[in-house]
Amino acid sequence: MKDKVILVGVSGGIAAYKAAGLCSALVKEGAEVHVIMTESAMKFVTPLTFQSLVKKPVVTDIFTEPDPAEISHIALADKADLMVVAPATANVIAKAACGLADDMLTTTLLATRAPVLFAPAMNVNMYNNPIVQENLSRLRSRGYLTAEPGEGPLACGYTGKGRLPEPEELVEIIREFFARSQDMKGLNVLVTAGGTRERIDPVRYLTNDSSGKMGFALAEAAARRGANVTLVVGNTAVTPPSNVKVVRAESALDMYREVMERLRGQDVVIKAAAVSDYRPSETAGQKIKKTEDRMTLELVRNPDILAEVGARKSPGQVIVGFAAETTEVEANATDKLLRKNADLIVANDVSREGAGFGVDTNIVSFIRQDQPLRQLPQMSKRDVAEAILNEILTIRKDRV
Ligand code: PMT
Repeated sequence: MKDKVILVGVSGGIAAYKAAGLCSALVKEGAEVHVIMTESAMKFVTPLTFQSLVKKPVVTDIFTEPDPAEISHIALADKADLMVVAPATANVIAKAACGLADDMLTTTLLATRAPVLFAPAMNVNMYNNPIVQENLSRLRSRGYLTAEPGEGPLACGYTGKGRLPEPEELVEIIREFFARSQDMKGLNVLVTAGGTRERIDPVRYLTNDSSGKMGFALAEAAARRGANVTLVVGNTAVTPPSNVKVVRAESALDMYREVMERLRGQDVVIKAAAVSDYRPSETAGQKIKKTEDRMTLELVRNPDILAEVGARKSPGQVIVGFAAETTEVEANATDKLLRKNADLIVANDVSREGAGFGVDTNIVSFIRQDQPLRQLPQMSKRDVAEAILNEILTIRKDRV
């Protein structure tokens, strides 16, 4: 874990003492560990315990800013490779699930773009309470990681599920997380995301509902797994990840140019963008005035970027396209796979709830030549991204 920055958030449960063991073990593994404690956590263990173990000041108050040059919760949030909340109480889980930010820990949780692992620890009946379970699944559906609590005698006298995993078990989960995170090291990956805008006049355009979330999740995950990522971005509703090179492209023609310019040297190309198939044949220089009762807009075909990338595919390159379908998903996606010479088509039935445009989850199937279709359940876009990257690595391995 050398060079890794791990932010440990400690909330107020009796298992807070075990977080000290976790911090000590992470430091021994070579990680740079920073600790944030909630007020309740300090009732169980003192900040001095953690400070002595991690050799860094422990942050407990959002309004104490020791360095005037930076804002603590943003600086910590930005530098983390991973944030671990251990123990995660029912209270902190609920606050995170609702996006509340009323102390240093929950504010940093909202601000960080790093992956977050929650390690719940509480009384068995609290853990089994449907409200806590709902909050945990809400967090999971948004891509947060959760560790399974251990079973056994609990501090409250009950026996059951709710124990914080032992520090060594948590270290193993974190070690596995980082091991997976370097399996794309050195690969050049180009991802497209968002929708294109096809200008009608200076104030009007044709576009679609793509938010960029699917492409961003892919770019972010690939970068976290060690790849050099270039993200060609159209119009999006969310901010692109900070750990990748971002190239802006407004229209399909812009995106075509930016992708083609960067195609050579890419090991993987993933086309998650929703590209307009047509554009107005002319873009008016001035705002079009209303005159007649009817108006006809002539459209011409845009280049098919994926098909062009497929036609120019170099040996070893893996080309991945998406298929946004509403009917005959498998047949249409298979047709795209063959016609565009892709290695993998990720088909999403965008008519289904929880899939496709704008939402944080997706329901996809993988279509490859000479392979049976693989249907995935509804997952967060972050988890879908990890599954796509795993499939890409399998395709590369199958070729050797
Ligand atoms: O951005 P989000 O809100 O998270 O939503 C994600 C998504 C629904 C946009 C995404 O999952 C998705 O399905 N992207 C592809 C949408 C699309 O354009 O599908 P298509 O079936 O029309 O195109 C098939 C493939 O060809 C796509 O990889 C597309 O990028 C590519 N294409 C299409 C037309 C064109 N002129 N050039 C292309 O490269």
